[in-house]
Amino acid sequence: MDKLLIRGGVPLAGRVECSGSKNAALPLLAATVLAEGECRIENVPRLNDIDTLVKILGCLGVTAERDAAGAVATRVESEGESVAPYELVRTMRASVCVLGPLLAKRGYARVALPGGCVIGARPIDLHLKGLAALGARIEVAGGYVTARAERLRGARVYLGGAFGSSVLGTANVMMAAAMAEGRTVIEHAACEPELVDLANFLTAMGASIEGAGSHRIVIRGVKRLDGTAHRVIPDRIEAGTYLLAGAATRGEVEVAGARPEHLDALFDALGAAGVEVEATAGGLAVRAGARPKAVEVTTLPYPGFPTDLQAQFMALMTLAEGASVITEKVYPERFMHVGELARLGAEITREGPTAVVTGVERLAGAPVMASDLRASAALVLAALAAEGETEVRRVYHLDRGYDGLTGKLRALGARIERLSD
Ligand code: EPZ
Repeated sequence: MDKLLIRGGVPLAGRVECSGSKNAALPLLAATVLAEGECRIENVPRLNDIDTLVKILGCLGVTAERDAAGAVATRVESEGESVAPYELVRTMRASVCVLGPLLAKRGYARVALPGGCVIGARPIDLHLKGLAALGARIEVAGGYVTARAERLRGARVYLGGAFGSSVLGTANVMMAAAMAEGRTVIEHAACEPELVDLANFLTAMGASIEGAGSHRIVIRGVKRLDGTAHRVIPDRIEAGTYLLAGAATRGEVEVAGARPEHLDALFDALGAAGVEVEATAGGLAVRAGARPKAVEVTTLPYPGFPTDLQAQFMALMTLAEGASVITEKVYPERFMHVGELARLGAEITREGPTAVVTGVERLAGAPVMASDLRASAALVLAALAAEGETEVRRVYHLDRGYDGLTGKLRALGARIERLSD
């Protein structure tokens, strides 16, 4: 296992390129199962999670290879095998997004249950409710979901749950409905930009979808979807992470290629904290000077403050003036970073889904352990702001979701190196 050695205290400065969105690329790759012929997807980030899904596609008879230009070309070679095995699904819960396309195209899907993870339970009840509404016969046994349907039929389905809607649940139902007979209406659909990207891809394949990005999506099923080309949208969570790195180190960071309209909630919170963020010709930039002010933030489904930036924002608030209150309404247990941030000198008390962060003047480097993707990013941000040396262990978590992290941070002036542990 590798670790990162970071000598903090240097204000980051410069420009990084935003990579393609992990959370758009994953359902997009799953959707290639629906296509007759080849697809070509550009701007797919180079991440372990992408590699895992490519392996799963391989188990499903779909080849996916990067061409010379770095795009991913996919082709459905056979439809004989439709099982997504546990040993792959357990490493990445998002694998569940092959369920809908397999069911729609082949009438059969067998996918290992994702199981829980450190950020909380990862139920798929809303996915199954949606697919059953379209006529699928669902069986959950032996740690697998098996779904069957001769022909899916359009239906009206409500996807709201206790924590809002489900992003990948909406993706699964949208992909299944794209080839169901008749009209499907998804009420309380998730509105994330990654679902708009997926809807655009499906539409380019020949699907009929209206309302993606809103809480009501209407899909008219078609008999055939053809391969097409597509470019993945930029990764708003990666962009937010680098902007927060600039703010935490009181530097000046520009993230090229990021879309301002995807990060309104972050800008609102940063503005309240006194951190100036502006849209530039090429993307987004943060100019942090004075010590940030403590603010209150609650994570909510899009367009609310993204849960995937909660840990990174907390890292910034550990150095803020005053006490901030961070409430997690999407994954109430998503606080694995709190204990490790405390090792760097942060003062955080947690009460259920809420954390109170009392800002300190400075953090001090110490050995810390990464636990999940976004918590690991929070530790890197805090380490960059801390004085002295920090060792972040188990950085394989970061490799799941940050394309070229060490190189990008080094280009911003960070003193960071990756060593084998
Ligand atoms: C997507 O996961 C993202 N992953 C997550 O990003 C992100 O945190 C999450 O959406 C919320 O924005 C991908 O897109 C690959 P959900 P998803 O279903 O779709 C509950 C990262 O760091 N729920 O929207 O799996 C669930 O427990 C990852 O990049 C049900 O109750 O999330 C959670 O509390 C982490 N029943 C809430 O809804 C269900 O059937 C939101 O989950 C499904 C979910």
